[in-house]
Amino acid sequence: MEYRNLGKWGVKISTIGLGSYLTIGMHVDDETAAECVRVAFDGGINWIDTANAYNHGQAEIALGKILRDYDRDDYVLATKVWAPMGDGPNDRGLSAKHVFEQCHASLARLQTDYIDLYQCHRPDPETPLEETIRIMDDLARAGKILYWGVSEWPASMIQEAVDLAKMMGCRPPVSNQPRYSLLWRDPEEEVYPTCLRTGLGNVVFSPLAHGVLTGKYQPGQPPPAGTRAADDTQNQIMMDMYWSDDNLRRVQTLAEMAGDLGLTAAQLSMAWCLRHPAVTSVISGVTRVSQLEDNLKAADAQIPDDVYERMCEMFPGPQDSGAP
Ligand SMILES: NC(=O)c1ccc[n+]([C@@H]2O[C@H](COP(=O)([O-])OP(=O)(O)OC[C@H]3O[C@@H](n4cnc5c(N)ncnc54)[C@H](OP(=O)(O)O)[C@@H]3O)[C@@H](O)[C@H]2O)c1
Repeated sequence: MEYRNLGKWGVKISTIGLGSYLTIGMHVDDETAAECVRVAFDGGINWIDTANAYNHGQAEIALGKILRDYDRDDYVLATKVWAPMGDGPNDRGLSAKHVFEQCHASLARLQTDYIDLYQCHRPDPETPLEETIRIMDDLARAGKILYWGVSEWPASMIQEAVDLAKMMGCRPPVSNQPRYSLLWRDPEEEVYPTCLRTGLGNVVFSPLAHGVLTGKYQPGQPPPAGTRAADDTQNQIMMDMYWSDDNLRRVQTLAEMAGDLGLTAAQLSMAWCLRHPAVTSVISGVTRVSQLEDNLKAADAQIPDDVYERMCEMFPGPQDSGAP
C-alpha cells in the first residue's frame, strides 16, 4: 500500500480508503462490515470515510462499534456535515449552529474524541463562508477535529475558502471530495488545477461509477440480482448518470485491456484515478469482502503509459469533448 500526503498537508493516507455510503450501517450486515474493516486495515488501508447523513447516522453508529476494537492512532477517520438530519430549519447546512451540533453528534455516534477530517458535504449558499471557516477553526482549536475539507465544491469556492481562511488567520480546507472516475472526469477541468495550486488533496468518490466500471454489467442485459444496479432503492444516480449500452460496451473493452495486464476492470479503473497528480486517494465502497480484496490490489497496479492514454481516449473528459 502506498501512503500519500493529503495535498500539501502532513497527514498521510493510503491511496485507497474504505467508504460507507449505502453499505456499512445499511445494506451490509454488521458482521460483514466488521470483516470489511478488518480486511481493509490488514491490507494497509488507514482511512475511513463516512457522513452523518449516511442512513441517518446509522453508518457512523455501525463504524463506531467496529472501530472500538482498533487503536485510534492507527487510522484516519473522516466524516461529513451538511445534509438534512431533521425537519427543522437549522437541521442542515453549514451554519455554525448546525456544524457545531452535528460535530458533537458524530463524535458520539462514532464513539471517539476527535474527527481527523471533517468535510462539508456540499456548499451551503445560505451561510456565509466566513461563518463555516470560523466554526471549523473553533472546532479544531477545541480539539474536536484536526483538519477540515469540502466535497463537490466548485473551484471558485475552494479558492475563496483558501483566501478567506488566510485573511481570517484560520485553518484552510485541506481536502476536496469530488466524484471522479473514467465515466466522470469533470474535476480535471477546473477543480484539480485549483486544488493543485492551493494545496488541497482530492479523495475521490464513486471511482467505479457505482460498480459500472467493474464490467459486471453486460450491454443489453438486465443487471444481475444482488447488485446496486438491480436495486431500485439505490440505483437512481447510477441509472441517471452511467447506465447506457454505450458505456457498458466500452467497459467490456476496458475489462479486456485489464485482463491483458493481469488486472480486473475495477483495479484498472481505480489505478487510473490515482494517476492524476491531484488525486490523493480513491474511496472504495464494497458490499462483499471479496470486492475489497479485488479493489485493494489497485494500489499496486501499474498502468503502462500507452494503456493509460488509450483509456483517456476511450473515456474522454470534458476537455476532450470539442466543446468551446
Ligand atoms: N462526498 C459524497 O457526496 C459521496 C457520494 C458518494 C459516495 N461517497 C463516498 O465514496 C465511497 C465510494 O462511493 P461508491 O460506493 O459510489 O463507490 P463505487 O466504487 O463507485 O461503487 C461501489 C459499489 O460498486 C460495487 N463494487 C465495488 N467493488 C466491486 C468489485 N470489485 N466487483 C464488483 N462490484 C464491486 C459494490 O456494489 P454492489 O455489490 O451493490 O453492486 C459497491 O458498493 C462511499 O462509500 C462514500 O464513503 C461520497
